[in-house]
Amino acid sequence: LMNPPQRPYTVAVLGATGAVGREILKVLDEHRFPVGDLRALASERSVGEEVMFGNRPIKVALAEPNAFEGVDLVLASAGGAVSRKLLPEAVKRGAVCIDNSSAFRMDADVPLVVPEVNPEAVAGHKGIIANPNCSTIQMVVALKPLHDEARIKRVVVSTYQSVSGAGKKGIDELSAQTVALLNLRPYDVKVHAARIAFNCVPQIGPFAEDDYTEEELKLVYETRKIFDEPELRINPTAVRVPVFAGHSESINIEFERPLTAARAREVLGKFQGVTLIDNPANNKYPMAMDCAERDDVLVGRVRRDPSIDNGISLWVVADNLRKGAATNAVQIAKLLDAWWNAASA
Ligand code: A2P
Repeated sequence: LMNPPQRPYTVAVLGATGAVGREILKVLDEHRFPVGDLRALASERSVGEEVMFGNRPIKVALAEPNAFEGVDLVLASAGGAVSRKLLPEAVKRGAVCIDNSSAFRMDADVPLVVPEVNPEAVAGHKGIIANPNCSTIQMVVALKPLHDEARIKRVVVSTYQSVSGAGKKGIDELSAQTVALLNLRPYDVKVHAARIAFNCVPQIGPFAEDDYTEEELKLVYETRKIFDEPELRINPTAVRVPVFAGHSESINIEFERPLTAARAREVLGKFQGVTLIDNPANNKYPMAMDCAERDDVLVGRVRRDPSIDNGISLWVVADNLRKGAATNAVQIAKLLDAWWNAASA
């Protein structure tokens, strides 16, 4: 590493006015990331608006190639098309980019990183590091200590994903439909695949191979890449539910080796990034309503699957805008900071 950037860093948040972008600004501040100059970038629609970084109001500037001049670190969350167009421009100007979109996730020379699972992958970056999809992140954090303990053979996962995963417009559509339906008025369906108010929709994103949706295939391919297990067997169903914030997942795992529910609870409870909330005697388990603004992954309902030899079922909840997006990106930024800081010492 010839010239590592020096603290405090010049940081650009691309998509700073969006649901994830605003959360990135909050998490950078809460985690006291060493930010010097901060640039908030968005489309021409938002130029001149202000976003808050701690108690500093920041004027939004246009996301264009020259906006990355002098930037050390980019945290991007403005969608795949914007990332594909602008991140190579940022890299050309010397920045390292952490991208929340799906644009580069499966590229062989782009690390796909969840710091609790594969922090070492960051070292191989060539300017772009990808943040996995929200539902993948919370699943792999829960799977990692169990995989280390008993080796995963197969995973069956069903997700219950909140509308904030579709950004601000996804949140607004659930509100508008709910109000319209309660007032017996007509409603629009534009963002989600079908009416989401008072409903569950088993389609997130377009359909792709074998009649699985793109969202479902992300759970398969991203998990294999993060674990570096190209053959890992995963069968996903991804469902949008009328919840504003927080994704929940029902996960059933078959292991190579025996694993008791008690031992599964023990390794989960000790794992960095997981909080175990599992007390059926007192009706305690994690729920989407408990995870707002939390950085950890909540795990409960840990129990043996008596229908197979070495099986465990569990319920996993996380704030999809936090650990599923902003927090994970900032944790990757902290890995870079530690690396740069060590290189310049
Ligand atoms: P803007 O608010 O100016 O449209 P969300 O996921 O909540 O919908 O947010 C998407 C984010 O991506 C917003 O900050 C949005 O900015 C930004 N964005 C969308 N399209 C572009 C674009 N063409 N150039 C730059 N930023 C964009």
